[in-house]
Amino acid sequence: MQWWREAVVYQVYVRSFSDADGDGVGDLDGIRSRLGYLELLGVDAIWLTPFYTSPMADHGYDVADPRDVDPVFGDLAAFDTLVEATHEHGLKLVVDLVPNHTSSEHEWFRAALDAAPGSPERARYHFRAGRRPDGAQPPNNWTSVFGGPAWTRVHAADGEPGEWYLHLFSAEQPDLNWTNPEVWADLEKTLRFWLDRGVDGFRIDVAHGMSKPDGLPDSMAATRSGLLPGGRDGDPRFDHDDVHDVHRMIRAVLDHYPGRMAVGEVSVRDDARFARYLRPDELHLGFNFRLLRAPFEAAAVRDAVEHSLASVAGVAATPTWAIAGHDVSRPVTRYGGGELGTARARAMALVTLALPGTVFVYNGEELGLPDVDLPDEALQDPVWERSGHTERGRDAFRVPMPWEGGAPGYGFTEGVPWLPMPPEYGELTVAEQLEDTASTLSLVRRAVELRRRHPGFTGTELEWFGAPVGCLAFRRAGTTLVCALNTSDQAVALPPGDVLLTSGPLDDGLLPPDTAAWLA
Ligand code: NOJ
Repeated sequence: MQWWREAVVYQVYVRSFSDADGDGVGDLDGIRSRLGYLELLGVDAIWLTPFYTSPMADHGYDVADPRDVDPVFGDLAAFDTLVEATHEHGLKLVVDLVPNHTSSEHEWFRAALDAAPGSPERARYHFRAGRRPDGAQPPNNWTSVFGGPAWTRVHAADGEPGEWYLHLFSAEQPDLNWTNPEVWADLEKTLRFWLDRGVDGFRIDVAHGMSKPDGLPDSMAATRSGLLPGGRDGDPRFDHDDVHDVHRMIRAVLDHYPGRMAVGEVSVRDDARFARYLRPDELHLGFNFRLLRAPFEAAAVRDAVEHSLASVAGVAATPTWAIAGHDVSRPVTRYGGGELGTARARAMALVTLALPGTVFVYNGEELGLPDVDLPDEALQDPVWERSGHTERGRDAFRVPMPWEGGAPGYGFTEGVPWLPMPPEYGELTVAEQLEDTASTLSLVRRAVELRRRHPGFTGTELEWFGAPVGCLAFRRAGTTLVCALNTSDQAVALPPGDVLLTSGPLDDGLLPPDTAAWLA
């Protein structure tokens, strides 16, 4: 079987996972030192967010050299050692790939700035003259996902204003021109570079990006910023048909390396559009955002699950599930914060881990970490500046992992963590939670273990049971393992079966609000 089909993939936000050299920023050696923990947690694979050479305007999603390691994270030798050690621990290693844009510090973009309009150097990006006779208006009305216009004007050495370039994210992330064969050849080189070093797959950033419509027409839709927009209908910035050719190229390369896979970050509205990315000659998996967007309500959760299943119904890919990630408020906070949010996040962990397909767990999710209320001066996400300090960005859910001990570094670093770690982390450390059988970490460990060895976790079809209002219950077709979730405000009767695991204590044999149970 393809290893990813039922895998639990653990997302390592490299900056925030573990710091071996004491500079306050996580690194590759730090990850290596924690592989034993990941093995204990029972996950199958790890996905590393970008660790490539980068000025870190978007913390690595602005790549200056896609075939080298940024010194803050280590070097290629550290990477090779990590690959080897990961495999020794029985884990697969997936790395991020950022094909939509480069850093403005990439040698190509620097050359483009030095070159004249119409030059081959500029043709690797989207440079255009501005509108209005004096060119002072951006070439079209597109907005950046991070806020503000998607265009920035460049100036000649003498200060004379010139062309504009396109960036769907920050100004430090110019979009590549995917009609240029050089851009294709370079990605192919990057793929082979990491495949030859032994990676087991890629997570493809903005897999619905890259291709742009001819002429870059104005958007008729009200283009809006935001990483998880509700829909892309009529939005010319994303999901252009030609992007599928890029995925076919990626797949053709991967097909030369047995056992490797690509999971795309696919943010499109429609199930049918989603499925197009998963055709037999495209991506192996699509990372789907349905559960990330769903509130803690049984009907919304069921709707998200049904849409996710529908979007892979006609293709070979398995569905994917995530309730957390580095771009979204952490589940504990999103579901209400405090004890309530924690109870709900634990319940949703049981729901996702019961589902068929690939489950993504974001570092710290297994500890039930909440978002951190950071002071303004600590904020580093470009969203904070680009929104004119109206949106706080994503730092609150990227605060480093608390491993053991106390402030300031909680075992994450011996130095000063790049984002301040709050006092409440003291009781949420890995060390504390490993000792406590009732902790969120212990719950997730048990759930992952059961998912791996219990026969109820086989098969890809789901059967839904009738359930009281505000509740849901399902099992994989042909098995006896039932997952029940109560999002109502009343305790309800459990479905028949022996209780295997619950996300919180039962109430006199009833399933209390904000709780989930597995029964067999
Ligand atoms: C999606 C990534 O998940 C996000 O963190 C990043 O800022 C954008 N893509 C741009 O690369």
